[in-house]
Amino acid sequence: MTARTTQNSLVNLLPTRVSDDNGLAQDVMQGLSQSPKKLSSRFFYDAKGSQLFQQIMELPEYYLTKLEHQILSRQRKEILYAIDTQNPFQLVDLGAGDAYKTKLLLSELVASKADFSYVPLDISEDQLNLLLEDMHHRWPHLEVQALAAEYFQGLEWLNQNRRQRKVVLFLGSNIGNFDLPEAQNFLCALRQTLNPEDSFLLGLDLKKDPEKIRRAYDDAAGVTSAFNLNLLHRINKELQGDFDLDQFQHFAEYDPLEGTMRSFLVSRQAQEVHIGALKQTFRFEAWEAIHTENSYKFTLRQVEEMAGSCGFTIQEVFTDKTFGFADVLLRPV
Ligand code: AVJ
Repeated sequence: MTARTTQNSLVNLLPTRVSDDNGLAQDVMQGLSQSPKKLSSRFFYDAKGSQLFQQIMELPEYYLTKLEHQILSRQRKEILYAIDTQNPFQLVDLGAGDAYKTKLLLSELVASKADFSYVPLDISEDQLNLLLEDMHHRWPHLEVQALAAEYFQGLEWLNQNRRQRKVVLFLGSNIGNFDLPEAQNFLCALRQTLNPEDSFLLGLDLKKDPEKIRRAYDDAAGVTSAFNLNLLHRINKELQGDFDLDQFQHFAEYDPLEGTMRSFLVSRQAQEVHIGALKQTFRFEAWEAIHTENSYKFTLRQVEEMAGSCGFTIQEVFTDKTFGFADVLLRPV
């Protein structure tokens, strides 16, 4: 590797914990007071939720991870060639998780003795600690700086660290959790933090057979249901709620016009839920739904338009055989 000393560290950019939450209380207060009710999908990822998402990635129905893994493993040489790994850079991994797919690129980079450091960013500190340990095991000489942060804080970090060349990864169709205007804003905000020599690899789930999409979010083994319901469990635990998890059910529906995969938790009966930390009781009508997640699906034309309007150009598109998933390499124009 390089002569650099290894400094594996975790930097916590998340807001300091005033009581016991990272904006959860506010999200619950607002989200359950409005009609229709909603909760933000970014609160799925406590330790248990991160673990459930790992299980989702292994489900036969959850094709996203498999397709992207296929792209990154079969085309890693082409991808890294397009990125220019001859000059030093920082590899910034937005929403790294367990870095299952990034590891494909990392092993190739380490083997080719590229001069780079790895900067995984994730909302889950637990997940990042596991990742740091794993990285230290696999590649003891790789320099890793982990950022416990939300995406917009990641953008601030990028802005403040503009001196080193960046290769930014946003894999796994994580961008799909934004609604379209948010996704557009995010792309433009990210573009503002990049210099002309930087690059950006964006992973997107593409529009396909709507049945296949729906099944990926409503698996037979019920893991996605447990993942969704865990949000209520988290509220019970962290905000002293008394949600009865048996009285809510997971429901997932795909809208092929908009390309929106939506997930809900539906109240099976009229009921009241008290949340101690908020000193509030929320009423649910029978079959009233809480909207908990959007997982947006794209067309390549859409990506080109969105990226183009923010000052990105598509350098290369990497897809799988079925055109089900795309990793798009973007460059500032
Ligand atoms: C981690 C946001 C990419 O939307 O497909 C998986 C999360 N939700 N199953 C997705 C998720 C339900 C996942 N992302």
